[in-house]
Amino acid sequence: MPVRFTGDPHMPLLWLLRDELDLVGTKFGCGMAMCGACTVHLDDTAVRSCMLPLARAAGKSVTTIEGVAHTPVGDAVQRAWVQLNVAQCGYCQSGQIMSASALLRENPAPTDADIDAAMGGNICRCATYRRIKAAIHFAAQTLRDARPGR
Ligand code: FES
Repeated sequence: MPVRFTGDPHMPLLWLLRDELDLVGTKFGCGMAMCGACTVHLDDTAVRSCMLPLARAAGKSVTTIEGVAHTPVGDAVQRAWVQLNVAQCGYCQSGQIMSASALLRENPAPTDADIDAAMGGNICRCATYRRIKAAIHFAAQTLRDARPGR
């Protein structure tokens, strides 16, 4: 849905999402774009919304954890997360899913090294990294299996 905002263009995107639009699935973590909890997609790119000024989002499409399952990749990633019981406390996981979805959209068959490179900025204090990696591989396989012509 289009959103019109007439306030401070320097305000971080995360503030608009959580405080004005009540899209609270995106989390505030470090506030310095260092932990990845606030990751959303700006057009198709994963970005840290806690440091992204609204002016940079003007005219662009923003996808949050609330909407990412409306894409085949986002849906496959979320289903993989549930299937493999990835979350522990869960706080970081919306950001993890957004980064994983952006990775799989660009690279449908990532190696472990690709995953490490793409997900390295998403911190999990519960150390669910092994399950995250397994879920990304699981989602990638699910998407490959669903391709037409197989
Ligand atoms: Fe607790 Fe990642 S599941 S911080």
